[in-house]
Amino acid sequence: MTACIVGWSHGKFGKLDGETSESLVVKAATEAIAHAGIEPKDVDVIYVGNMNGGFVRQEFHSSLALQAHPDLRFKPSTRVENACATGSAAIHMGLNTLAAGKARFVLVVGVEKMTELNSTQAGEVLIKASYVAEEANIEAGFAGIFGKITSAYFQRYGDKSDALARIAVKAHKNGSKNPYAHFQKEFAYEFCRTPSDKNPFVAGPLKRTDCSPVTDGAAAVVLADVQTALGLKHAIAFRATEHVNDFLPMSKRDIIKFDGPQLAWKRALASAKLDLLDLSFVESHDCFTSAELIEYEAMGLTAPGEGERAILEGWVERDGKLPVNVSGGLKAKGHPVGATGVSMHVMSAMQLSGSAPTGLQLPKTKIGGVFNMGGAAVANYVSILEPLR
Ligand code: COA
Repeated sequence: MTACIVGWSHGKFGKLDGETSESLVVKAATEAIAHAGIEPKDVDVIYVGNMNGGFVRQEFHSSLALQAHPDLRFKPSTRVENACATGSAAIHMGLNTLAAGKARFVLVVGVEKMTELNSTQAGEVLIKASYVAEEANIEAGFAGIFGKITSAYFQRYGDKSDALARIAVKAHKNGSKNPYAHFQKEFAYEFCRTPSDKNPFVAGPLKRTDCSPVTDGAAAVVLADVQTALGLKHAIAFRATEHVNDFLPMSKRDIIKFDGPQLAWKRALASAKLDLLDLSFVESHDCFTSAELIEYEAMGLTAPGEGERAILEGWVERDGKLPVNVSGGLKAKGHPVGATGVSMHVMSAMQLSGSAPTGLQLPKTKIGGVFNMGGAAVANYVSILEPLR
């Protein structure tokens, strides 16, 4: 155990007209510092997670966090990018900075303002997180990448559309209780299962309800070393963290095996000296319902090809043996890419401190897992979190 989350903030995710990535960063930073019970001058180092790539014209984001308070002026701040795992990458940079003894308090803000573009334009930005030399012409943006993965999975293991629809229903049911979520309404199984005008195919077997939406939002955490955290009000410790990158080209991998996520989970659980079912919940990277399905296998919940059992037999529901994405996940909460990894850590910190909003809070939580993924199983981050005391 090396460091703790000692403060956090989470804004409402959605189509936030009137907000800019600057206003979102400033609000998230201000609220996280206040929640940690420290002064802005106490922050030593800042990381801003932002993927961008053309979502907004403003590319250079690091110093926007300084606008939260005059005392942040002259603090070292760096923008971090690792595709959809940008938020976790920024947190890992913060943890490394603490481990190196270079800071007492690190502020990490994750932000993305995606909805200035329409879905097609956003897809053109997101496809840059593929191996452009071979994959950029796949249609439908990043949904096309996962459409291809889903088709390959169905070819090997059979049509799993029932399981995907159930995953979507679970996400929206959970998201309906999350006041921070982009979508806060339940979706019926028949609606998610059946293609229609309101739920058309987007890519391969993936329908609209199988995709995370295009979303704006920000979240932030304050990190501190364990000794410092002992004197603070909130302290959620990192029991283990793991970061595994795989080859970028899908042609160099068995794309339905998710080897990188599997290795990240294996190493994190070994380092934490835990079995998967010791976790009270997992926040997992469901950018598409099929990603969540394959992640059940990668985390070791089921054997390869049997991921559907986890959803069809109720294991991953709120009251199941391993609740997955109680927050609504990326599917319902939204996936503002630079903010997502930070959001997953904040949602977990809330659960573990018993401070999640009413209806969202699980009855008993001891240890939580986070899996955040950049690209198609390329940049893989696992965190295992537990209250320090
Ligand atoms: N799930 C459920 N409903 C969705 C949705 C989603 N992902 N995205 C949009 N909707 C709803 C909207 O709320 C709207 O509902 P309304 O008619 O009741 O107001 C309706 O669908 C149409 O919205 P629109 O934005 O026009 O849909 P779209 O077809 O342009 O975009 C997607 C839908 C799925 C193509 C788009 O959300 C997308 O590209 N998602 C993937 C993003 C991505 O790749 N992220 C990175 C992952 S690694």
